[in-house]
Amino acid sequence: MIVKAGVHRVYAAEQQRYRDAHARSAALAARSAPHFLYGLPMHWMRDWPLPHPLFVAQAQGNRLRCVDGREYTDFCLGDTGAMFGHSPEPVARAIAGQAARGLTAMLPGERLVEVGRLLAEAFGLPRWQLTLSASDANRFVLRWARAITGRPRVLVFDGCYHGAVDDTLVDRADDGRTLARASLLGQVHDLALGTVVVPFNDAASVEEVLAVGDVACVLTEPALTNCGLVPPAPGFMEAVQAACRRTGTLFVLDETHTVSSGPGGHARVLGLEPDVVVVGKAVAGGLPCAVYGFTDAVGERMAAAKDAAAPGHSGIGTTLAANLLALAALEASLREVMTDANYARMLDGAARLQHGLDGVIADHGLPWTVTRLGARMELQFCATTPLDAAQARAAMDEPLERALQLYLLNRGVVITPFHNMLLVPPMVTQADIDAVATALRSFLAEVSRA
Ligand SMILES: Cc1ncc(COP(=O)(O)O)c(C=O)c1O
Repeated sequence: MIVKAGVHRVYAAEQQRYRDAHARSAALAARSAPHFLYGLPMHWMRDWPLPHPLFVAQAQGNRLRCVDGREYTDFCLGDTGAMFGHSPEPVARAIAGQAARGLTAMLPGERLVEVGRLLAEAFGLPRWQLTLSASDANRFVLRWARAITGRPRVLVFDGCYHGAVDDTLVDRADDGRTLARASLLGQVHDLALGTVVVPFNDAASVEEVLAVGDVACVLTEPALTNCGLVPPAPGFMEAVQAACRRTGTLFVLDETHTVSSGPGGHARVLGLEPDVVVVGKAVAGGLPCAVYGFTDAVGERMAAAKDAAAPGHSGIGTTLAANLLALAALEASLREVMTDANYARMLDGAARLQHGLDGVIADHGLPWTVTRLGARMELQFCATTPLDAAQARAAMDEPLERALQLYLLNRGVVITPFHNMLLVPPMVTQADIDAVATALRSFLAEVSRA
């Protein structure tokens, strides 16, 4: 049994252990402090459960080395950006080659034809657009969806995360209302005017909302991956897709995280046929780039909307999108990194890791679950996999989570902060997997004592 006092004791001890081992990171943090907000180039980096930031000297494969010379096995992998390992050799080679021949020109590079072919082959959709981030891709897709349907609202699921996209940064109140997320900064619009939020795995609610006929698209991940991990119940995604078809609503899948399920993402696992797919983060091997793909029918409606609009800014697209460097990285990633062979290694490694963690949990008799979706898994503090965001939130325990994450990091294992996600890259070894299970076992022994 986990003892609260044990969790606090372990966290305090691990903070000291971290400080003792990271003098150079501490010094760099002190020197960065005057020049950056919170001393960091991006304020979320503060949310790691560390006494001060960990500065990276090198990231290669599934290894991170910090400036204090310590080595880590990385199961966070930049929260998916480095899903196939850091700096995959084909992508690094393509970037280096292209870097000498131009970075950005606001003109298409000669690789475009091949990139289009590879994207269509990988995700089964014929037409594509490129952006710099998945946030941008989702934002632009929502805009296109409203433009081509003439409908004002979008439907998302409670607990969703699709990036820095205002329309999707909503929560569901206990009484079912759609509320702007309480944590948002600088948000002045009434998000409930343009967004409706319903519980995941609740097909009846989706059908009821779509029946009104004012929803441009459903935007969802095939499983919620940002609120713990909430897989779709059997038939749920199919029911959402069918309701979209019946009501003329676009069915948009954000596969930015779930592309870890295998070639073609989780849509292929479930046999879904979305109208639009978004893939970001790892799609170009970790270089900033995202893509959205769509059917010919959607493409024709997009072109018609653009052609009918007044000339000028569409509100869609950015100057550096589809730059020459991104095309080079994307081509290399699609052709040489996102391969069936790499996915097979990832899925096999993930199954072995889940097995190892399940064993430790069973030995301790804990009511915890490892929920796995392809190559990613989530350690959840509940006896069964949650069915929706409310259940997933109820299973969270912040003090326990941060103590666990810091304890693992101090033993050379990095997992994703904010929740307990472990992503398994192709180069994972059995020793890497065993190290996680061993560290979890000793953590549990520690926190079971007051
Ligand atoms: C499912 C999903 N979509 C989109 C995004 C946004 O990605 P980015 O932060 O690279 O824009 C995220 C980020 O975590 C995500 O989890």
